[in-house]
Amino acid sequence: MSHNVTVIGTGYVGLVTGACLADLGHHVVCLDVDAARVAKLQAGEIPIYEPGLDDVVARGISSGRLAFTTDVAAATEHGDYQMIAVGTPQSEDGAANVSFVYTAARNIGAHITRPVIVIDKSTVPVGTGDQVRDLIAAELTARGVDYSVSVVSNPEFLKEGAAIDDLMHPDRIVVGVSDSASAEKMASLYAGLMDSPDRMLITDVRSAELIKYAANAMLATRISFMNELARLAELLDANIDDVKLGMGSDVRIGPKFLNAGAGYGGSCFPKDVQALIHTAQSNGMGGLRILEAVEEVNTSQKTYLLEKLEREFPDVSALTVAVWGLAFKPHTDDVREATSVTLLSRLVNRAARIQAFDPVATEAFQNYTHLPSVIYTDTAEAALEGADVLLILTEWPEFSAVDPRMFAAKLARKTIFDGRNIFTLPAMEKAGVTYHSIGRPTVG
Ligand SMILES: NC(=O)c1ccc[n+]([C@@H]2O[C@H](COP(=O)([O-])OP(=O)(O)OC[C@H]3O[C@@H](n4cnc5c(N)ncnc54)[C@H](O)[C@@H]3O)[C@@H](O)[C@H]2O)c1
Repeated sequence: MSHNVTVIGTGYVGLVTGACLADLGHHVVCLDVDAARVAKLQAGEIPIYEPGLDDVVARGISSGRLAFTTDVAAATEHGDYQMIAVGTPQSEDGAANVSFVYTAARNIGAHITRPVIVIDKSTVPVGTGDQVRDLIAAELTARGVDYSVSVVSNPEFLKEGAAIDDLMHPDRIVVGVSDSASAEKMASLYAGLMDSPDRMLITDVRSAELIKYAANAMLATRISFMNELARLAELLDANIDDVKLGMGSDVRIGPKFLNAGAGYGGSCFPKDVQALIHTAQSNGMGGLRILEAVEEVNTSQKTYLLEKLEREFPDVSALTVAVWGLAFKPHTDDVREATSVTLLSRLVNRAARIQAFDPVATEAFQNYTHLPSVIYTDTAEAALEGADVLLILTEWPEFSAVDPRMFAAKLARKTIFDGRNIFTLPAMEKAGVTYHSIGRPTVG
């Protein structure tokens, strides 16, 4: 059955969700306050890099089932389902800033003309669903109207870089409701995704809100655990990648999210870990000790490659440093909280010359950091021209596919600092370079 859906916010989550829902046969209007973004989308241009998204959006527009607007009243009028997918960035005190969610809620209350179901897809602290319900009710009261509005928590688990597949083939769909009618409406909306009926986990709104934070916190914990263990492995002359294989093949542990590296970034893990700690503090728990350690380990991990670099080359200002990778992970142009942001800022402060390359994230990085004096190259190889050393910060597949012989030929100091362990130790030995990675013996 086809439904009318309004999606509020056309970022990574809103745009992918809106386009996929249109692909499933629903009629979707996507609303954003960013007029330039909406103009681009109306012209069929995709403002973010997400593999496959351009085709899904183009299909939606040409089918007439997907439209973009800045018109709040018209967008709100459209949907029987009002989906909130606006940003919830970190506030100064670590809490999630839910002001965009509240604005979206007020707009819904100010403009709906019939009963609706409001779906919160943004990652929000526990209790936000209640606030959204109250804000909408207050607007309706002010207008002197009374429509039934149920608020559902439906957190999103998509991964940037694989978002379409994640959305179309979810591991699970978490739905937090306060009445069974809403659960049925959500099942109808997602019927096209439910190849297995037990894929939808129905719970209460507060538990659904907590599930999202718990999942991200666990993934961040696994990464920081491995990063701390990697430092120990270096002291013990062990190889963290082999340790990972040995641990991860235990079915109770599993192999995912056990890669040691130069720290996690992105728009979710850093802020969600902080927000969950803040939630614990503001609810009388004092904090969450494990997550505080996760956060602390990650902060120091982001500068770990610089420590290694300075140990080898104390005068960084004398170096030309090639950098491969600016995105916080491969297959995305997202650089929010990326390790590259921290590391390149430090290198600029230390007056190093930087030649950086990323296959898709260069423009986003420039807009996000406005770092002076960094040279951005068009190819990975060009970043090596005249450089002394190479820093690898993102595991783009094209980096590990290069001919390693070029390193000794191009790098004056023949030294690589690999923050993502993309090369094997024997390959680097053969390449004739000094190769520092994370949690593995140094080669050369
Ligand atoms: N990015 C991810 O991979 C991901 C994954 C899962 C969950 N989430 C969560 O989903 C939410 C959205 O994340 P994102 O990365 O898509 O955010 P984003 O910052 O990329 O996009 C948010 C969009 O909302 C728009 N917006 C803000 N206020 C608005 C309003 N009142 N009306 C209409 N539009 C408005 C902004 O202009 C922006 O385009 C966040 O809570 C995030 O934590 C993100």
